[in-house]
Amino acid sequence: MINCFATSVRTEVGSLNAIPDGAGRIFQPSIGQKSLNLLVLRSADVCYGYINRCPHFGMPLATCDAQLLFEPNRWIKCNVHYTKFRWQDGFCVAGECVGESLIRVPLEVENGKVFIKYCSNIGEQ
Ligand code: FES
Repeated sequence: MINCFATSVRTEVGSLNAIPDGAGRIFQPSIGQKSLNLLVLRSADVCYGYINRCPHFGMPLATCDAQLLFEPNRWIKCNVHYTKFRWQDGFCVAGECVGESLIRVPLEVENGKVFIKYCSNIGEQ
């Protein structure tokens, strides 16, 4: 008999306190051999994660924290053509790629740390 399974894995991104409430930060966590360009937006004890890549031209929304353009807990803008994305789900609501979305990265916060949660290989047991 074949049973399929997937293993849930977490990778630490950083400290929750490193992200001011209502603001965003860019991180480069490693998953295996790959480094992720990860945008993390914080609302109190909840964090929203997105690949830092605009669906318009595939450019980063910003290349450093100081360049992030946002209104706390409401939206973040790409600083190339100023397209606006919703804070909580990355959906584009105004600008060059209305209707598209940032790629979400599932995050969880535990004991003051932010983690990426994902499934490793699905295999057979
Ligand atoms: S590259 Fe982001 S809006 Fe054009």
